[in-house]
Amino acid sequence: MDQPTASVSPSAARALGVEAWVDAIAALTRPDEVVWCDGSRVEYNRLTRQMVDTGTLLQVNPEFRPSSFLARSDPSDVARVEARTFICCESEDDAGPSNNWRDPAQMRSTLDGLFAGSMRGRTMYVVPFSMGVVGGRYSKLGVQVTDSPYVVASMRTMTRMGTDALRLIRETNDWVAAAHTVGAPLIDGAADVPWPCNATKYISHFPEQREIWSFGSAYGGNALLAKKSFALRIASVMARDEGWLAEHMLIIRVTNPRGRVFHVAAAFPSACGKTNLAMLAPSIPGWKVETIGDDIAWLIPGADGRLRAINPEAGFFGVAPGTGAATNSVAVDTLWGNTIFTNVALRDDGDVWWEGLTEKVPTGLRDWRGEEWTPESGTTAAHPNSRFTVPAAQCPSIADAWDDPEGVVIDAIVFGGRRATNVPLVVEARSWEHGVYVGATVSSERTAAAEGTLGELRRDPFAMMPFCGYNMADHWSHWLEVGTGSRSAGRAPRIFQVNWFRKGDDGSFLWPGFAENSRVLAWILDRVDGSAAARDTPLGWAPVEGGPDSGGLNTDGLDVDESALFALDPVAWSAELDDTERFFSLFGDRLPAQLQAQLADIRQRFAAL
Ligand code: GTP
Ligand code: MN
Ligand code: MN
Repeated sequence: MDQPTASVSPSAARALGVEAWVDAIAALTRPDEVVWCDGSRVEYNRLTRQMVDTGTLLQVNPEFRPSSFLARSDPSDVARVEARTFICCESEDDAGPSNNWRDPAQMRSTLDGLFAGSMRGRTMYVVPFSMGVVGGRYSKLGVQVTDSPYVVASMRTMTRMGTDALRLIRETNDWVAAAHTVGAPLIDGAADVPWPCNATKYISHFPEQREIWSFGSAYGGNALLAKKSFALRIASVMARDEGWLAEHMLIIRVTNPRGRVFHVAAAFPSACGKTNLAMLAPSIPGWKVETIGDDIAWLIPGADGRLRAINPEAGFFGVAPGTGAATNSVAVDTLWGNTIFTNVALRDDGDVWWEGLTEKVPTGLRDWRGEEWTPESGTTAAHPNSRFTVPAAQCPSIADAWDDPEGVVIDAIVFGGRRATNVPLVVEARSWEHGVYVGATVSSERTAAAEGTLGELRRDPFAMMPFCGYNMADHWSHWLEVGTGSRSAGRAPRIFQVNWFRKGDDGSFLWPGFAENSRVLAWILDRVDGSAAARDTPLGWAPVEGGPDSGGLNTDGLDVDESALFALDPVAWSAELDDTERFFSLFGDRLPAQLQAQLADIRQRFAAL
């Protein structure tokens, strides 16, 4: 192990074990020092203290939030960079039309050039981790090397990191390799900056080798490689190969007033309410919702034909703005301490703040860049994509069995998007095939507030558009196989579609959302329980009118226009189905015939109205 391995490529060295791989990366990137992380609290405290000293972190006033920190990123490094995210498999067709494909050999040579000497003057940390509890039947192992202590501290919150994982990594030598550098070497004792990064960015995935190489960014989605890069992009390929599913889904445990327990997995595109639904505090009596995961679910068909799910993560990396007592008090209560905030605003009393945390804007704020800020500044105090990183175990609504290695049995799968028009509040798919069609046609409409054309549809199938590591049409085929293949034994969960975001003619939301979404969950689970009535519509089974006494949706005490929430305009739907047909055609002959058949069936049903 002491031999320099500069002549061996890291990818080749990997077969010899984690030490050989780490040596090869060090030989390439030339850090001053290599530190193997043990994942302990002591180590976390040492790293965060060191980052406070170097200016990477500010300590949040511990009287308000013990052991919590604020990181201000470089203003150019604030979000995932989808245009710089690459899938490097041998065949371009395997990446499919919805991914940026690059030839693996070419990408490797580009990365070799960029990584060469990239860690000079820095420490390289070796971060061994497990997605899912260490040693769990459905868990997967990984090793990330990084020259960012911010990434190390965040990975400790988001994964099971450290010595126990490393022991298993050495034992099995079965792990995903993730190399990360901020790409900012300190040459000849050059001074550091609080948030080093590089204008050039590459977030590259080699699904066939189970490898990730990330250059130039320290932002969570680009740099915490266990999360989107491993647990979705690489894991989706593992899942395809091994017969399971890696999905952009929350998981909740719901108990109805009769004491029956259900588990629900739901996929919504980014910023469409997963974290909110995962921490739902029901408005209707007798129902209880507990949190299992808020972003990623691994779904595994069991021997009994039922689908089980684990949350592979150990923490929440949630959007801060809009998180307040009125919308998500459970999230607010989760953030009492042990939290790394990134790009939120700072109060003059040393606590953090963001738009929506409190109704009243405090005085004496500094914005996410550290500048003095008032509501008259014409900008937001917190960056719109500012985030909190917090241990899941701290969530007051966390389910006891949230980290059960056996997972939980999923009773219902829900797909949703942000749709001002067309899509009703809730419908149940007629079959698994219809449900897969619903997932494949998830889309979100841009609002007037966001860039893009008003009402323009952005396709985001399964909420996985930026996260599927292989051809999206193959993903749909895989879903069809999982739910209807011989292993499922006809016991696959029921599939539903929801839309919290439909608007009336006056532009306001037709549905109050948030806590009131428990009424929709109740209808969904009453359907699973066999006690809710439904009527046939072209889009699937919808609640009957007449309220809970007749088995329909409970809207007691709400002032909502149910007919508007469920209205189906055949002309608008004809245009939407045409658009779906165009979208499907992008995938050529990889499109499963069942989805084309579902589209034809829905057209037929509208024609027969
Ligand atoms: P990622 O973590 O980026 O994957 O996104 P997410 O799906 O977890 O999104 P999140 O829960 O953070 O979405 C928050 C956004 O959705 C905010 O703008 C909320 O105000 C809005 N939102 C969530 N639930 C509802 C709802 O029921 N009704 C309405 N109108 N808005 C909602
Ligand atoms: Mn979220
Ligand atoms: Mn997400």
